[in-house]
Amino acid sequence: NLEDYAISPDHGFLPGGLPLQQLPSSYYAPWENLAAQLPTLIQTGQIRPLVENLPVLKTSWLKSEPEWRRAYSVLGFLTHAYIWGGEKPQDVSKTYPPVQTIRTIVCRNLKINDNNKILPPCISVPLLEISSHLGLPPCATYAALTLWNYTTVPEADITEPDNLSLLTSFTGTKDEEWFIVISVAIEAKGARVVPLMLDAIAAATVNDSARLTALLCRFTDILEDLNSTLRRMYEKNKPEVFFHQLRPFLAGSKNMTAAGLPYGVFYDVGQGQGEWHQYSGGSNAQSSLIQTFDIFLGVNHASTGDIKPAGTGYIQEMRKYMPAPHREFLKTLSVLSNIRDYVLSSPTEQALKEAYNAAVLSLSSFRDTHIQIVSRYITKPARSQPPVVSKSDRVNLATASSQVKGLDDKNPTGLYGTGGTSLIPFLKQTRDDTKAATC
Ligand code: ALA
Repeated sequence: NLEDYAISPDHGFLPGGLPLQQLPSSYYAPWENLAAQLPTLIQTGQIRPLVENLPVLKTSWLKSEPEWRRAYSVLGFLTHAYIWGGEKPQDVSKTYPPVQTIRTIVCRNLKINDNNKILPPCISVPLLEISSHLGLPPCATYAALTLWNYTTVPEADITEPDNLSLLTSFTGTKDEEWFIVISVAIEAKGARVVPLMLDAIAAATVNDSARLTALLCRFTDILEDLNSTLRRMYEKNKPEVFFHQLRPFLAGSKNMTAAGLPYGVFYDVGQGQGEWHQYSGGSNAQSSLIQTFDIFLGVNHASTGDIKPAGTGYIQEMRKYMPAPHREFLKTLSVLSNIRDYVLSSPTEQALKEAYNAAVLSLSSFRDTHIQIVSRYITKPARSQPPVVSKSDRVNLATASSQVKGLDDKNPTGLYGTGGTSLIPFLKQTRDDTKAATC
């Protein structure tokens, strides 16, 4: 039963109904008030002091799963706004003391422009509880930014990005809204794929090659439809706005020494207690839907990525950034997935093989579109001078450039994705691994 995995028959990995627009209890008004004015508070430099003045609220007034999700989304935004929305963090790569002494420094000797490194208890305490309830890390993940952050008018078609709007935004720009709602529309269109994949697995299990062929053809049509939605990114999201204004807020706290976070962020839970945490930034590699395509088709990404804790690839690592039930679903799907083996063991079934290869190529072509988007929205603006340098923009520009970490042979542009990968080499490798699944 898909609902056991928090998957909606109509909306897939998006919530079954619309995400809750606001926490109903006025107890949480202090959070909602900041979230509602986030773009202005960031631009006017008020966000950090206002976050620091928040009361430490309890989670006991969260009564339903939609409420926990809304709370997670709001606090995820407040966390990244707090970290990246104030004064320019310092490059501390050379001057910072070793990690064992850092906690003492945090507690006793806080330098004023180091405070983006310490998340105050009013955020840390409830966010740690909420993220543990949902099985997510305590930061702005794809779930916080995208899955649980959109709305529409009643009865509207949520596969059309023009019908969607954002609940919470860092910049208040149409560009940010469009960047996110394109992904929401893709999730909504992709909802049909989930039952289709299970039907296809069942067809392979009972050796119904004709049915499997037909389902793979339908899979390809849907993937092409998703690709056409992804190509609409250009319509309302300007690369310079994305790169200079929005992208800095998506950044994480892992491998961010040059951006002033050598040990990540200290989640202060009060009385000098707490821990350093490091997380990848927001990334669509955290979309469960996209990962199901690879699992279903048997694409092997074991070699991908330059973050390989304990021998696991980056894509595997990103599953930790998905809501727990979705992560469970991917695990179950990996166990069930039999399509590629079935195709390989049916060498005389030419139509089946062609349908499978077309499905694989439709996924690889989706990734080609992504690579083109990245070169227009990241590679190009990273090379050019930032357009405006007002006081409030200075922060963002500095952090944006901090995601350029230095050149090396494997990553000649020196550009890293917000998720922490060597951007273009990673995406090309992922695309090539996809193509390599053809048989
Ligand atoms: N992962 C995307 C980036 O690197 C959002 O900008």
